[in-house]
Amino acid sequence: MDTIIKKADEEGVYEEAAKILQEGGLVAFPTETVYGLGGNALDCNAARKIYAAKGRPSDNPLIVHIARKESLNKLAKDIPKIAWELIEHFWPGPLTLILNKREQVPYGTTGGLETVAVRMPNNKVALRLIEEAGIYIAAPSANLSGKPSATMAEHVYEDFNGRIDMILDGGMVEMGIESTVLDLTDSVPVILRPGAITQTMLEQVIGTVVMDKAILAENQEMDLKPKAPGMKYKHYAPKADLTIITGKREEVEAYINKKIQENKILGKNTGVIATIESQQAYKDGIVKCIGARSKEGTIAKGLYKVLREFDHLHVDCIYAESFEDDEMGIAIMNRLQKAAGYAIISV
Ligand code: TXA
Ligand code: MG
Repeated sequence: MDTIIKKADEEGVYEEAAKILQEGGLVAFPTETVYGLGGNALDCNAARKIYAAKGRPSDNPLIVHIARKESLNKLAKDIPKIAWELIEHFWPGPLTLILNKREQVPYGTTGGLETVAVRMPNNKVALRLIEEAGIYIAAPSANLSGKPSATMAEHVYEDFNGRIDMILDGGMVEMGIESTVLDLTDSVPVILRPGAITQTMLEQVIGTVVMDKAILAENQEMDLKPKAPGMKYKHYAPKADLTIITGKREEVEAYINKKIQENKILGKNTGVIATIESQQAYKDGIVKCIGARSKEGTIAKGLYKVLREFDHLHVDCIYAESFEDDEMGIAIMNRLQKAAGYAIISV
């Protein structure tokens, strides 16, 4: 299969992409969080193609993307009042809601579950594509299963050239970390995956919200089962072993510098995930700047790109500084910890 790649501002691209989707094909497209790999959400054949292209386990459900808030009624039932309050505040935006599914949503899309994940993305290309196609678009992140999510069309091409029909290139995404996933099917709303819409932001609108305990780093030894099937898989992992170093800034830098030298003697190349503020502190190794600590959003945006860049460089191991475990930082650390397979050293 030849994969068509077109810039989102080329003439006729939406018509072309819409036609592919209507005929059951796959189109990757940008959202504000990461690129999605889209297919018709109500067509179980399209869903099957998505799983096959990604190499994704079929028990891991897809998020359905809509372009109008009221479309939620067509996909979900028993929608509580708090859902509409959240939608008023956060849609379009990086918040995915889990609700009981309507019959027309196939189990092929929901990984066999009675619930469905829905979000309205805040990205013009995505919204226009959904409208033009006149369907709901099921889209997981557009990366091969286990690899870092794609924040640029080039990443999608790297993973899917020859495996999907089309890539709509809308440039680099705005945020870089996947949406917050919130389960509204229990008496208390549960965050199944942290994202840019934080627990505090949700609580300001609907009161108490809890975090799924299984996704917290400190509980990894306990073998709890995360409620979002996708959160149980090792994810986002670069090829080289990644270790997160936590502690006081100078001590972290000293520890990583020492490791770089030790590895060098052993003939090994070391990669470092640093920030604008710290990158000068590393005198050797391959140092990549992920963003600025003073602007947390830049770190979210740079994370997957840097992890992918290391896959193209010859490094034997990678050390990452750690980041504030607050607000948006919780989502950043969640992804980084998963990428590291929870290898964390405190100095
Ligand atoms: O920002 C995003 O959410 C991106 C863009 C493309 O919209 N999409 C994305 O999809 O990250 P994906 O498939 O990579 O992650 C969806 C997560 C998975 O962890 C999945 O297990 C969970 O949401 N999920 C989906 N439906 C669910 C359901 N019915 N119950 C529980 N978890 C669900
Ligand atoms: Mg994903």
